[in-house]
Amino acid sequence: MLKTDNLPVVWVVFGPQGSGKTTQVERLAERYGLKIFEVGKILRARAKIDEKLQRNLNQGTLVDNATILGIVDDFISKQISPNGYVFDGYPRNSVQFNDLITLQKKYGWQVAAIFINLSDGSVKQRLSTRFRLIDGQKIIRDDDKPEIIEKRLDNYKKETLPLRERFAETFQLLEIDGEPPVANVTAQINTAVDRFFNAKS
Ligand code: AP5
Repeated sequence: MLKTDNLPVVWVVFGPQGSGKTTQVERLAERYGLKIFEVGKILRARAKIDEKLQRNLNQGTLVDNATILGIVDDFISKQISPNGYVFDGYPRNSVQFNDLITLQKKYGWQVAAIFINLSDGSVKQRLSTRFRLIDGQKIIRDDDKPEIIEKRLDNYKKETLPLRERFAETFQLLEIDGEPPVANVTAQINTAVDRFFNAKS
């Protein structure tokens, strides 16, 4: 059972672009039976029928906080998960952090954060070589162009990185080195999360 003090745990996974958040969130969710809340994926699906949102994503800027809060509320009210959740890409600024605290009180969650760190050089290298294969065709994300990667990284440093301190002050924060190969990063996360639960039991 993944509850501590009888409270479901919400894991927040954050870090720079390309640090492997989505890669690791999928593994974490499978190992601990959590529901994934991936904001970027929801936004990209909505953008297919919303030109303004598509432009916003293509420019690499954060989507407005009210829209994001609506998406979180909608997801949480529909996707009940007794074991808890793993959040990929939320919160990303101080307003969203405060909203998370409000949600935590409303739903009685315990929040813990996993920060995956990665150097700027590795961010650029990973995102500039990322693609998906669909029907044998290489599909590159619209926001993975070099100038947009720079902008996303700048936004991250201004808006999201300062949350590292707030998470450390307010909740438990597990720090992970995102540079090694995927399996090594997963092993670091599993060890840190197991230790978190063992300390609580
Ligand atoms: P989002 O989709 O969340 O993108 P991101 O944060 O820029 O992160 P990425 O998806 O680029 O990287 P990742 O860390 O998930 O790494 P991944 O596992 O894919 O957000 C997109 C946009 O939506 C934002 O720019 C913003 O506009 C908007 N948005 C989202 N959330 C928002 C919010 N809360 N508020 C407002 N706006 C919001 O891995 C990357 C690549 O590296 C892959 O190819 C992978 O195979 C590879 N890789 C992963 N780990 C390793 C490893 N250890 N070694 C080698 N390669 C690796």
